[in-house]
Amino acid sequence: MEIQLWRELLDPYQLAVDELLVKFNHIITEHRNRGLYSPIEFVDGRVKSIESILEKMCRKDVSMNDIEEKIEDIAGIRITCQFVEDIDRVVNIIKQRTDMKVKQEKDYINHMKASGYRSYHMIIVYPVNTIEGCREINAEIQIRTMAMNFWATIEHSLQYKYKENIPDYIQQKLMHASEAIIEIDKAMSDVRDEIMDAQNSHRKKENLVKDILNNIQNLYKVASKREVTRIQDEFYKVYQMDDMMQLQHFSKQLDIISEGYRAQSLQ
Ligand code: GTP
Ligand code: MG
Repeated sequence: MEIQLWRELLDPYQLAVDELLVKFNHIITEHRNRGLYSPIEFVDGRVKSIESILEKMCRKDVSMNDIEEKIEDIAGIRITCQFVEDIDRVVNIIKQRTDMKVKQEKDYINHMKASGYRSYHMIIVYPVNTIEGCREINAEIQIRTMAMNFWATIEHSLQYKYKENIPDYIQQKLMHASEAIIEIDKAMSDVRDEIMDAQNSHRKKENLVKDILNNIQNLYKVASKREVTRIQDEFYKVYQMDDMMQLQHFSKQLDIISEGYRAQSLQ
């Protein structure tokens, strides 16, 4: 048998995970910068450990030559959402992207596994450019809510402890817990609009304050120190009122002042 060069094998998968993390994190940033609710709450990823790959090869009787074709989760991305409704939105975002192709989907949300496991799985084909040229590789994306993630994380550690022979009474408790998770997700969905409103207005305020302070900082370069100090004091006063309308009004006034200076500097 040829010597298996694990590092060479895994390198492109690391690149895929790194790139995918940048891209999915950017989806969060784009939403938030525009004051929109992001269907992705957070994302993480990993390259499967060599030990896990070996374990899966034994379990599924996969030969060294078939690793890349048959083990589709060497690159793994996990997308966590706040609400069940967000999962569909994320699935559609992924389907519409031109930089990845969906090869397989498994809906364990509407079709829960016997263990009680729930998540939406996608296998995608993703091209990476390495020093040896372009390679298309498989990556697994798991999409789930925070509540589903809680359940899966706990259950996974038990699987590890019991090596897939979890005693019946524990399995039953896990099943009950999984049903409770469905109820939690439903209850959260019922107040989804309220929660989204609250989070959006908080982010809008954050963005507005950032804009205002940025504007004041720019003014510092062109206006007199006294003028900028006056504006800054005024900002603190308005900020303390804790009134979004006042803050927006202040921001508009500040824009007009800044515009005036800009016009002056062009003359
Ligand atoms: P694996 O050989 O385990 O990868 O299963 P598979 O190739 O048939 O694919 P499947 O979509 O069922 O599972 C892929 C991944 O989902 C697993 O590697 C786990 O990360 C996760 N998963 C699937 N079933 C369960 C489960 O019952 N409990 C937990 N905690 N995770 C699961
Ligand atoms: Mg799998």
